[in-house]
Order: sequence, then structure tokens, then C-alpha cells
Amino acid sequence: MDKTNAVISGVGMFLPEYRLTNEEISKMVDTSDEWIMTRIGIKERRILKDKDKASAYMGAMAVKNLLEKTGVNPDEIDMLICATVTPDMHFPATGIMICDQAGLKNAYAFDLHAACSGFLYALTTATKFIQAGREKKIIVVGAEKMSVITDYTDRKTCPLFGDAASAVLLTASNEDLGIKDYILRSDGVGVKYLNMKGGGSLNPASHETIDQKLHYVYQEGQPVFKYAVSHMADVSIEIMQRNNLQPEQVAWLVPHQANLRIINAVAERMELDPAKVMINIQRYGNTTSATIPLCLCEWEKQLKKGDNLILSAFGAGFTWGSIWLKWAYNTK
Ligand code: UT7
Repeated sequence: MDKTNAVISGVGMFLPEYRLTNEEISKMVDTSDEWIMTRIGIKERRILKDKDKASAYMGAMAVKNLLEKTGVNPDEIDMLICATVTPDMHFPATGIMICDQAGLKNAYAFDLHAACSGFLYALTTATKFIQAGREKKIIVVGAEKMSVITDYTDRKTCPLFGDAASAVLLTASNEDLGIKDYILRSDGVGVKYLNMKGGGSLNPASHETIDQKLHYVYQEGQPVFKYAVSHMADVSIEIMQRNNLQPEQVAWLVPHQANLRIINAVAERMELDPAKVMINIQRYGNTTSATIPLCLCEWEKQLKKGDNLILSAFGAGFTWGSIWLKWAYNTK
């Protein structure tokens, strides 16, 4: 019997309209376009201004875009996994709200939490379900309203993040395509360097947690930077080596977009031609679990059936990982 492979057979995305520029951020905190561009590489990020809309809305919009582009009937979707650190509510799951808003009547849904590596964890999970044979069509969504957990009085973190959602459709195929290998890792050494302390069972919301600004992203940038470069590069090189992939055989690196300097350092250690690296951080900033599918969506037309892609991410936890996949279709 042929092996069942899980292939990405469509992509969709949603970007809020509002563009928060470095000029505008420079009026909020003591920073400059020059500092942000040289240290991070972000020019602007999108912000969902609507107070009554959040991650589920953006996720549903990305799913609708995906279904429209692929022509797949929403009733055919068996399952949806939403990767997010900015769920609409603690419960129920944002994935369930996405199904409801996008009209997925037959899908069951849950959220998965692995911060900036969330999309890689969710894609790997969905792959296992497809390979097991029962679920035939699964949507993986990364949806983040990072602006609500960003402190716009803190110059160390406020230039970094943006809002967005993006989704991929995973289906079964007998062709030698799709997700070929993965490496996922986590290490609690990172808890203290990158977190949001407020609102969980340890520090439930109170006047004190609000006063202490515990409901915003807290990050010690330098240690996170160092771990990100070494861990992202290590797993990306490991996945290439154990699959005998030479740098020239890799069509694209699809890196998590947290810092242009991290992306460049990882690509250099992988000995990849910089022209093969997907980079859109300058336009969207760090959209956490949405960065990688957003890249796939924006580069979709350039991707060719059989292309080797290395997806690589690093995030809070720490979590990190890489996926090797063979792209499964050409866009007309
Ligand atoms: O996606 C999840 C994983 N997250 C990441 O991968 C992020 C990893 N970390 C980073 O990307 C970088 O560490 C940052 C972009 C967050 C910060 O860059 P950095 O080069 O590590 O700067 P730093 O925090 O060491 O700060 C250097 C200096 C400090 O001034 P002093 O103490 O040397 O006088 C900061 O106060 O730059 C100052 N600074 C700023 N100056 C102007 C920090 N933020 C700003 C700012 N504008 N926005």
C-alpha cells in the first residue's frame, strides 16, 4: 500500500488594514526608524483596530480566503487546529470560533499553544492525523492579535509585533510530496526570558496584575536572540543533514520573522543563497504563529511542485523546530 503523505494544498491569509509605521512608534516611545530598521528590520506592522474583533475574526477571514482560493467546500473540512498566544478568550478555543465564523459545520477544532513555533507544532500535529488516515482535510491556522498584549510605552517590545492570520489546507496524497520530516523541541530554560505573566492561574487578573503590567509581553531580548540564532540554525542544519539535503537542493527557507538579523544569521549558517530566504518582516513585524503561513501565502505563486522547503521557528517556552516539506502544487 502507498504511504499516505500530508501535503499543503492551499494557503490563505488576512491582514488588517491599519499600518503602524516606525514614524508613529517614534512618537509613542523614545526610538527611531533607524534603530528599528538596523536592530530588527521592521518598517511597519498591521494592527486590527476594531475593538470588537480579535484573533478568531482574523483566523476566520484567512480560512474564508483559503476556501475561496482552493474551491473546497467548507463542509469537507474534518478538523481545524488554531495556533495562537492571543486567543479571543481563555476558553472556549479560538479554533471553535473560527469554524463557527467561517462556516465549517463538520470540523472539530482545538487550539495549540507553542508561541512563535505554534505553526510548526500545529502542522506536525495535523500531519499525524492525515497520515493516520481518518481525517482527510485539515486546516491549520495561525491567528494573532499581538497588539492587545503589546505595551506601547515599552520601546524594547512595542516595535516588534503585528496582527495577522494565515491558514493552510492539509490533505492526503500518495505522491512523494508534503511534510517529509520534522524536528520539534522545547526547553523551560526560556520561561523567564519571554512570557506574559498575567491572566493565567498563577497570576489571575487583578488590580495588582494590571498595575504591574503583567498582561503584556515581557522579553529579555538578548538571551532570546542568542538562543534563537543557535537553536533555529541547529535544527535546520540537522534536518538537512539527516535527509542528505545539500544547500543547493533547498528551494526556500521559510523562517519565523522575529528579527532580520536572526533570519540572516540562520540562513548563513545553513549556507543558503540569501535569495532563497522568504522575508516579509519589514512589512508585518512578528505576527507570532502567523509568520510562516503568511510567507507561504505571499510566495505561493513562486513555489513549484517538488520544491524543497525548510520551515524554521523559535519562540517562547522556549520552543523551536524545523520542518522539511516538498511543495505539492503549481499555481496557475
Ligand atoms: O519571536 C519570538 C522570539 N523573539 C525573538 O526572537 C526576539 C529576539 N531578540 C531580539 O530580536 C533583540 O534582542 C531585540 C530586537 C528585542 C533588541 O535588540 P538588541 O540589539 O538585543 O537590543 P538590546 O535589548 O540589547 O538593547 C540595546 C540598547 C539598550 O540601550 P543601552 O542599555 O545600551 O543604553 C536599549 O535600551 O538599545 C536600547 N533600545 C532601544 N533604543 C532605541 C532598546 N529598544 C530600543 C528602541 N529604540 N526601540
